[in-house]
Order: sequence, then structure tokens, then C-alpha cells
Amino acid sequence: MYILLLGAPGSGKGTQGLILSRRFGIPKIATGDILRAAMKAGSPIGKEAKRFYDAGKLVPDSVILELIKSELAKPEAQQGAIFDGFPRTAAQAELVDKTLALRGQRLNHALLLDVPEEELVRRLHGRALQEGRTDDTPETIRTRLVVYQQETAPLIAHFAQHGIVHRVPGQGTIDDIALEIQRILGR
Ligand code: AP5
Ligand code: MG
Repeated sequence: MYILLLGAPGSGKGTQGLILSRRFGIPKIATGDILRAAMKAGSPIGKEAKRFYDAGKLVPDSVILELIKSELAKPEAQQGAIFDGFPRTAAQAELVDKTLALRGQRLNHALLLDVPEEELVRRLHGRALQEGRTDDTPETIRTRLVVYQQETAPLIAHFAQHGIVHRVPGQGTIDDIALEIQRILGR
């Protein structure tokens, strides 16, 4: 089963993705986590991504499409996965759709974590104090929210055409939201 977590920065993709990954015993693939590890390691991808990442802009598809291809090709991702933070552009969505279709698979569910903007900002400012992510500064948080609306939110319509979008009210405790997702997935 392939599940996509869609939602603005701070909506809980990483948090709920981890819970789902454990529940179903399938990997969570998060492009943001991969980029952070690459930046930390100073690898070529990390170096290329850094100026976009730190500005809260999307890292170009020229980098991300290769990354997605190699993640989807991994043996542990052949029977299912939780996608956190991608696909985020039309080109990424097309790549994911095509790659899975060639294997006789498809994206089964797109969970849209719907959280009001004030709550997103509150969470991200809270996380900035705890984790110090370089893109959790007030200005970059604002940019990320705008970039989400402009470049990623339009994908909701794309997945809705496939009839796989479920809106999840993303406010409440982490456990409440996990239960709601469980109810939506029926397992
Ligand atoms: P990415 O790492 O994907 O970050 P994001 O989309 O900005 O989202 P976050 O990770 O900030 O939030 P989340 O939804 O995972 O929420 P979380 O569970 O952490 O991307 C970062 C950057 O990398 C992008 O800006 C871009 O530059 C680049 N990038 C990544 N993927 C890309 C791609 N495919 N294409 C191009 N560029 C790409 O929760 C947030 C906080 O809230 C946490 O502190 C958490 O503990 C807390 N929290 C969670 N749930 C609750 C709750 N119910 N109540 C209270 N607090 C909660
Ligand atoms: Mg995340």
C-alpha cells in the first residue's frame, strides 16, 4: 500500500507518517529528511539543495526527480511506502504515478492534513526552539507556507481526480489524528 501525506509545513506529515510506517511495517520516505542528511554530510545533492532549502523554496525537480527514482527502486519500497513531503510538484507526481503504474501498483491514498495557518506557525516556531532546523526561521516559515499554496496545493486536485484524497482535520492531539486516519483507512 502506498500512502501519500499531503499538507502544509507543520501539518504533521512527519509525525503521522512515522506512526503509519510502524503500523503497516512499510518504510516512510521523506524527501526533506533525505535532503537534511545530504546537507549534513556535505554531499553534492546537499550542496545543491542548501540555498533553496534555507530560503524555504522548493529544491529543483532536476535534483528531486533523481532522488525519488532511486528511493522507489529500493527493495524495501517495492510493496508499499509512506510518502512524506513528495510528490510536491506536477513533474514529481507524474514520475510517482508512472513508476508505480509500470509495476502494476498505484498510490492508494492521499491524506490531506488540514491545519489552520495560525496553528502551523505556532508549531513551527515551537519546533525551531527544540530542533533548530535551518528553515524554521520566521521569514523562511512564511515563504514555505506561500510556496506550499502556490506549488503543492494544486496537486490536491490532481489526486482528487483519482478519487484518493481524504481530508483529515489536523488539529487535536497527535493520537486523535492518528485514530482518525486509522478510521479513514479502515484498518
Ligand atoms: P520538509 O522536510 O518536507 O518540510 P515541510 O513540508 O516544510 O514540513 P515539516 O517537516 O516542517 O512539517 P510536517 O508536516 O512534517 O510536520 P511535523 O510532523 O514535523 O521540506 C523541507 C524543505 O526541503 C522544503 O522547504 C524544500 O526546500 C525541500 N524539499 C523537501 N521535499 C521536497 C520536494 N519533494 N521537492 C522540492 N523540495 C523539497 O510537525 C511539526 C511540529 O508540530 C513538530 O514539532 C511536531 O512535534 C508538532 N506536531 C505534530 N502534530 C501535532 C499535533 N497534532 N499537535 C501539536 N503539535 C504537533
Ligand atoms: Mg516533516
